[in-house]
Amino acid sequence: MKKIAVTAAAVFAVALLGMNIDTASAKDAKANYDHYCAQCHGTSGKGDGVNNTKDLPVSPRNHTDANEMKKLTDADVYNAIKDGGAATSKSTLMPPFGETLSDAELKDMVKHIRKLCGC
Ligand code: HEC
Repeated sequence: MKKIAVTAAAVFAVALLGMNIDTASAKDAKANYDHYCAQCHGTSGKGDGVNNTKDLPVSPRNHTDANEMKKLTDADVYNAIKDGGAATSKSTLMPPFGETLSDAELKDMVKHIRKLCGC
């Protein structure tokens, strides 16, 4: 009986590991977005984070606006996140994240942004 329980626990642990591998990158991008971006862009990406008050001279981009977001190539989005607004001739209120996020995390973030706009 004990052996069955141990085997069951081992199978469960392996199943959990497997799930982790499958969803790791998508979860990381969402977690990073909630942590680093949501205060300006909002948790759902609508540009309605707590920092978007009338005192902010430039509104954070609404990442769910497909019409606006489809004008940007993946490289534009990547560069805006990595080097910030100044690097892409946008507002410097968009901070650079090249020192904070790894190259892989930046690429995952571009995919996450595409998911938010569905474009
Ligand atoms: C301090 C507030 C702030 C934070 C934090 C922030 N952003 Fe922004 N972001 C902005 C603002 C403001 C703009 C609009 C710039 C403009 O239109 O001139 C912007 C624009 C963008 C754009 C569009 C750039 C373009 O070329 O139109 C992308 C993509 C973006 N942000 C992604 C992110 C991601 C991803 C994060 C988190 C890793 C993040 N931002 C964190 C304020 C912020």
